Amino acid sequence: MSQIINLFPLSIYKSKIEISKKDKEIMAKEVFEMEKNSKNPNYKKNNLSWTGDTQGYEYLNKNPKFKELFSKIKNEVIKYVKNFDIDTDQLDFYIQRSWATISRGPETIQSHIHGQSHITFAYYLKKEKKDSKITFYDSHKHNEFITGLFGSKTGGRNVIKKMNALNASAVNIEAEEDDIVIFPSKTFHGTGQTTNVSNNDRISIAADISIFAKDSTNLEQFITPIQEWEKF
Ligand SMILES: [Fe+2]
Repeated sequence: MSQIINLFPLSIYKSKIEISKKDKEIMAKEVFEMEKNSKNPNYKKNNLSWTGDTQGYEYLNKNPKFKELFSKIKNEVIKYVKNFDIDTDQLDFYIQRSWATISRGPETIQSHIHGQSHITFAYYLKKEKKDSKITFYDSHKHNEFITGLFGSKTGGRNVIKKMNALNASAVNIEAEEDDIVIFPSKTFHGTGQTTNVSNNDRISIAADISIFAKDSTNLEQFITPIQEWEKF
């Protein structure tokens, strides 16, 4: 009898955030207001989603209308980190930036990483079933024994008969309104890349989180406490 032993997973955390319909409407209204007052409107290209951090709105967590949401999200981030048997009491977590995205019709967010950050999340403030999903991309491809074999461009002769969990280089996550997905910021992700979609003003909220050691004594791997840094 043979078996496949899967090693070294990428673990995406998914959970639900409970916020009243009324509070969600207030936040959505605020996001549309930000869009209206975009500081850098020429930056947004056709068929790409509106991203608030590029339009002068990169500190959503400091907006009182988002206070309750971010307080709930912080709990989820700690829960996510605890899955890796990490002692979160030894760490300080910082939201370094947070922003909204709006996708209309066929608009997409192309595959990217958040290189300056440790942990990233996407929370769906407004999302219908048919709106675009978040897609994660595998940049390691441990199983790809012939370089270039996995993924959609395999020479057009259907050498890969069917995409499955062992050969997939991109996977869509089923997430609906109120869901949050949390993942390492270095993971390639995007929306609306793999299927044709028509978004109905889909709104997501995202943030980048950095983790610092509370105490740097005898710790080599972590960023030292920010209060110890010397600015020059
Ligand atoms: Fe992103």
